[in-house]
Amino acid sequence: MPRSKHALLVPALAAVLFAAGAAVAADGRSVYLRCVACHGVAAEGVASTGAPPLAGLHAAYLQRQLQSFASGARGAKPGDKYGTSMRSAGAPLLSSDTERAAVASYLSTLKPGVQRTPGRTTANGRNYFNAVCGACHGSGGEGNPALGAPRLAGLPEAYLARQFAAFQSGQRGYQPDDRYGIQMRTITTMLPDAETVRDVIAYAASLRP
Ligand code: HEC
Ligand code: HEC
Repeated sequence: MPRSKHALLVPALAAVLFAAGAAVAADGRSVYLRCVACHGVAAEGVASTGAPPLAGLHAAYLQRQLQSFASGARGAKPGDKYGTSMRSAGAPLLSSDTERAAVASYLSTLKPGVQRTPGRTTANGRNYFNAVCGACHGSGGEGNPALGAPRLAGLPEAYLARQFAAFQSGQRGYQPDDRYGIQMRTITTMLPDAETVRDVIAYAASLRP
């Protein structure tokens, strides 16, 4: 094929790919409208519903959580009030893997908000966070998609504390094939006492996204 034909083909192909990308993004945005009552218009989280911020979390992490709520790998344990709320009233609003992927991809493009009431920094919290949590979640709490570890920075202290306690008690990470949940569950045994847990969570909540 002569060179000139390639030169024409490349911009045409780029235009098609761009249009396809925009369609997926628009779709995810419209799907997300079903979720705003609990998670907020900018996916900033709403304390009164217990629904956490979702803006700017990694797409693969979001999609995995949506699948877990749908399959019962998360939110299906008795006594898990907020998990039950998301599992029974949130997850059924998505009808397919395509919708779960589209909304996860859209949410990952939103700018994460900054904590309105940031946690406190203590030497104990910082030391344990860096020694234990940083290996997977990053020393700035930015998360590591390659390890499946989500961003913690910018999430509310109450939500982080609740999730940590859920892993500790087995309300999360209980499904035998929930590899990432089980991994995080094992980690909870590495903090020596309740006071250290509080310090580490408060420190994580002080980190800015
Ligand atoms: C009835 C209120 C409600 C609705 C509607 C709802 N959610 Fe949720 N969602 C929650 C609550 C509460 C939690 C926290 C669950 C927990 O504490 O384990 C949550 C958690 C999540 C999480 C896990 C976040 C994390 O950091 O692990 C994702 C992802 C999520 N929701 C996405 C959605 C999407 C997408 C929709 C719309 C299709 C939606 N939710 C609709 C209440 C809701
Ligand atoms: C070996 C890697 C690893 C280490 C170390 C680790 N985590 Fe995690 N963490 C994960 C993974 C993977 C997930 C996602 C689990 C899932 O998909 O359900 C996670 C999830 C979480 C969540 C839930 C976030 C959300 O949005 O719902 C919290 C909170 C958390 N970790 C806190 C901590 C804290 C605090 C420490 C240090 C004491 C820590 N983690 C250490 C891998 C790790």
